[in-house]
Amino acid sequence: MKIIHISDLHLPTKLRVFSLLGKSLIGYLNFHFRRRKLHPIDVIKEIMIHINNSNYDILVISGDITNISHEKEFSEAKKILSPILNKKTFIIPGNHDRYSEKNIHLFEKYFGEFLGEDILDNGYSKIKILEDKIFLGLDSNSPTPIANASGKIDLEILNKSLDILKKNHSSKKIILVCHHPIWNDPRHEESIYHKMTNRDEVVQVLKEKKIHLYLHGHAHTNWVKLEDEKIPFTIINSASSTRLWDKTHETGFHLIELENENIKLKRFAYQKREKKITELPLIQF
Ligand SMILES: [Fe+2]
Ligand SMILES: [Fe+2]
Repeated sequence: MKIIHISDLHLPTKLRVFSLLGKSLIGYLNFHFRRRKLHPIDVIKEIMIHINNSNYDILVISGDITNISHEKEFSEAKKILSPILNKKTFIIPGNHDRYSEKNIHLFEKYFGEFLGEDILDNGYSKIKILEDKIFLGLDSNSPTPIANASGKIDLEILNKSLDILKKNHSSKKIILVCHHPIWNDPRHEESIYHKMTNRDEVVQVLKEKKIHLYLHGHAHTNWVKLEDEKIPFTIINSASSTRLWDKTHETGFHLIELENENIKLKRFAYQKREKKITELPLIQF
C-alpha cells in the first residue's frame, strides 16, 4: 500500500480586511504579511502534478488547509485542490480549519465527503478502511484564544474508537491521523501554546492499544520518529508541504510504502530554483 501524506497547506486566499474582526483579523494580517510569500501557489500546483503522476492508494491531508477558516478560504481551497480530491483522499482538520466558533462547521461543509465514516454517535472519530489498514481521523482542535495554537485529543473518544476498531476489525492495523504532534524533533520543541497538551496520556493509550502509525502536521518541518521502546510505533510529520524550505523549516511531504511489517519511506520537497519537486533525504530519528 502506498500512502502520500501532505499537511499544512495554508492555501493563500485574499480576503477583505474590513470584513474581519479580532482573532481573525490578526490571524489574517499575520499570514498575509509574514507567511503568504512562504506558501507560493506554485508549490501546491507542483505537488498536485506530482501526486497525479504517482501510483498511490491513499492521499492523507492532516489539516491546516486554510489560515483563518474564512468561508472564502474554504471555497477557494476546494477549487484549488479539486485535481487531488477523489475517493482516495482522506482529510482531517487542523487548528487553522477550526479557527473561530462562528465558522467551526465550514470544514465539514466543504470537505465532508473526504473525511471518512463516523464510528461514534458523538464526537469526531472517522475511519476509512483500505485493504488490511484502518485510517482513523481524530480532531485535536478547538477555537483557541489569540496566540494559542495548542490542541488536545479527547481521551474518551480515543479509547472508545480504538476499542470499537479492535473489536470489529481485530486483524487490521490502525493508522491514526491527527493534526498535533505527540513527539518533537529535539531541534523543534513546541511551547505549551502550540503543543498537544495531553500528549503523554495519548501516547500511553496508543502504546497500550498498539497502533501501527501516527501521521500528523502542525510543526512546519518534516520528521520521522522510528519506533522504540518508549513509543513502539512510527510517527511521521509531513508539515508544511507547501512552505518553501529553509534551514529551520525542512518542509516537504512523504511517500509511505507499507508491505507487511515493513515501512519504506521517501521524502519530497519543492525546489525553488528548479521549480519542481525532487526527492530529499529523510529526517529520521
Ligand atoms: Fe500549520
Ligand atoms: Fe496547525
